[in-house]
Amino acid sequence: MISINDLTVEYYRDAGKKAVDNARLKIPEGSIFALIGESGCGKTTLGLAITGLISQRDGRITSGSVVINNKNILRSSQEELRNIRGKQVSYIFQEPASSLNPVFTIGEQIDEVLFAHKITEKKYVKDITMVSLRKAQINNPERVYSLYPYQLSGGMKQRAMIAMAISASPKLLIADEPTTALDTDTENEILKLLLGLREELSLSVLFITHNIRIVQRIADSVAVMHRGKIVEVGQAEKIFRTPKHEYTKLLLFSLPERLRLKVYRRFES
Ligand SMILES: Nc1ncnc2c1ncn2[C@@H]1O[C@H](COP(=O)(O)OP(=O)(O)OP(=O)(O)O)[C@@H](O)[C@H]1O
Ligand SMILES: [Mg+2]
Repeated sequence: MISINDLTVEYYRDAGKKAVDNARLKIPEGSIFALIGESGCGKTTLGLAITGLISQRDGRITSGSVVINNKNILRSSQEELRNIRGKQVSYIFQEPASSLNPVFTIGEQIDEVLFAHKITEKKYVKDITMVSLRKAQINNPERVYSLYPYQLSGGMKQRAMIAMAISASPKLLIADEPTTALDTDTENEILKLLLGLREELSLSVLFITHNIRIVQRIADSVAVMHRGKIVEVGQAEKIFRTPKHEYTKLLLFSLPERLRLKVYRRFES
């Protein structure tokens, strides 16, 4: 269980305004937790804060804690945080191109993560990288190992990012709009992959999105965010059946009627 308690973040540019306001979440092990809300409501800020990635130049966490393994990771030094990132919490971004380094091959980049975390002896690093590529269901992993990011399609890049993110066996994967830049078929494949990984690795996934159709299909639990605050949180099924907050109702009414009460989860459509 990962718990986020009363987390508040402010950016210096908008001093006094809380980009994330007292957010509280408990993410059970091996579950997919969707964080949904309109553009600018603070989803990415919350994800970055959980990972200790809010740039010190831009803003700061003014209160709260993020507890993993009984430890508040926000109390960690920069050095400790580097170790926590990847090993406890990994972050994948909407645009994989922005986090893959164009001048190194996919294999070299994953090797580097494993090396930095001292996951294994140098001579075994490539073996574990190959395992990660296979877990991300990359066809022909031997070949992809030696390709550069520009040689991969968008979907393959996102798979490579996922392989990198899970390579050091984190407990929590934060996936920030990971399918927004992809076509529908590729999006479906990536969603299925994440569902499979949460099963196979007991991985918890915080899935950030503004797309309620995605939430319907993959989420075990949902948190609805509105203007920096988490306004409603609970089991997906319950929230879809009996939304309480006005904003949640609005989100649901944005769906065509025939889909609104459909018991989602799952992947039929
Ligand atoms: N580096 C920054 N400096 C100052 N303000 C920022 C910074 N990053 C985000 N903000 C502001 O904080 C608020 C929350 O932004 P955030 O990016 O977390 O929203 P979001 O829910 O992820 O939006 P989107 O769905 O568009 O990705 C917005 O008002 C945004 O303008
Ligand atoms: Mg965002």
